[in-house]
Amino acid sequence: MSQKQIVSLGGYDFEASIEASEIEQLVKNLADRINMDYDDRNPIFIIVLSGAFIFAADLLREINIKSDITVVKVKSYHGFNSTGEVKILLAADIDLSKRHLVIIEDIVDTAQTLHHFSDYLRQFDPLSIETVCLLSKPDAHQVDIDLKYVGKDIPNDFVIGYGLDYNGQGRNLKHIFTKVD
Ligand code: XMP
Ligand code: MG
Repeated sequence: MSQKQIVSLGGYDFEASIEASEIEQLVKNLADRINMDYDDRNPIFIIVLSGAFIFAADLLREINIKSDITVVKVKSYHGFNSTGEVKILLAADIDLSKRHLVIIEDIVDTAQTLHHFSDYLRQFDPLSIETVCLLSKPDAHQVDIDLKYVGKDIPNDFVIGYGLDYNGQGRNLKHIFTKVD
């Protein structure tokens, strides 16, 4: 992109920061690693809605090993009202016990959601739990979390596009855009 594309949403400007072609390469690299690591392990991919739906659609079409796919919707409470738990708004519709689980997340920010969701999954006695996320903001993490498959580390800025939204908008954008201060 010679000149960075700008989009405006809800009175804020967002500047293209990761182009679609780069995203495509990041997704392919992640899929290559997972295809190698999970060959013969028949994993269950757990898509965390809503933000991960576009990333998951692209990633999973690059996966060529035997696997199952399910979706969940979770809400985590932290900050002042911290319960240390996630509320499961939509549960997985498949038996997770004695299986290798791969959580598909769009972005890891404070890492609280993932931390609590991984805890929740342990009750099903899975063989393993790993996470694949397209983006991670290491400077924003508040809990220690083992992120095996990260597409790209980004600064602690708000981003939209490629499934990520600002108040429900911007998910359909092809590139990832960073909020301009
Ligand atoms: P935590 O803080 O628990 O949050 O890791 C993860 C969830 O928060 C959302 N999130 C974002 N959504 N742009 C977004 O559109 C962002 O920059 C951003 N940072 C966090 C996202 O839903 C993620 O799953
Ligand atoms: Mg999300």
